[in-house]
Amino acid sequence: MECIVLYSSRTGNTRKIAEAVCSVLPAGTPCLPVAEAPPDLSRYDCVFAGFWVDRGTADAQSKQLLARLDNPKTALFATLGAEPCSQHAADSLRNAAALRPCAEPLVNSFICQGKVDPQLIEQMKKMFPTGHPHAVTPEREALHQQAASHPDEADLAAAKAFAAETLKRLETIA
Ligand SMILES: Cc1cc2nc3c(=O)[nH]c(=O)nc-3n(C[C@H](O)[C@H](O)[C@H](O)COP(=O)(O)O)c2cc1C
Repeated sequence: MECIVLYSSRTGNTRKIAEAVCSVLPAGTPCLPVAEAPPDLSRYDCVFAGFWVDRGTADAQSKQLLARLDNPKTALFATLGAEPCSQHAADSLRNAAALRPCAEPLVNSFICQGKVDPQLIEQMKKMFPTGHPHAVTPEREALHQQAASHPDEADLAAAKAFAAETLKRLETIA
């Protein structure tokens, strides 16, 4: 079983998840930033592609990768500031999956919270006044505080379980 893990990560959250995923895949499975993705992705038994959520979809670097990800056996994983069980999280995964050229359903997907860059939060506070749709409300502040400890050990364990489950599914598909 030859897999590859590709990820995009601005502040390290998604990289941690990528490393956890890779740790349960066959020894020697590459774990690379998307900028180092090999040109031919069709030869792998499964491509694990990880992104950070940027305005409800994959970040720009991952968008480029997903647009050329022609391997029908793909598992997506992601981190985001919002709650992982929210509609926003589900929509973000769906939007990212829709960027692929192939219509096959994902083999599996995983999403968890990741701390939001404090510099971004400060910028948002300065840029968006009270009442603006992107203003930092008390609810948003609470969400940022909740996200601040993620990904945590439980997230890493869940990411490993996701990878193990994906391997099982691949055996039944093959
Ligand atoms: C420009 C920007 C846009 C973001 N947009 C969203 C978003 O739409 N929804 C969300 O829940 N989190 C959003 N986030 C938070 C990140 O997805 C989250 O912090 C993620 O874990 C960062 O991953 P990384 O450390 O791998 O870069 C955004 C962060 C940035 C910097």
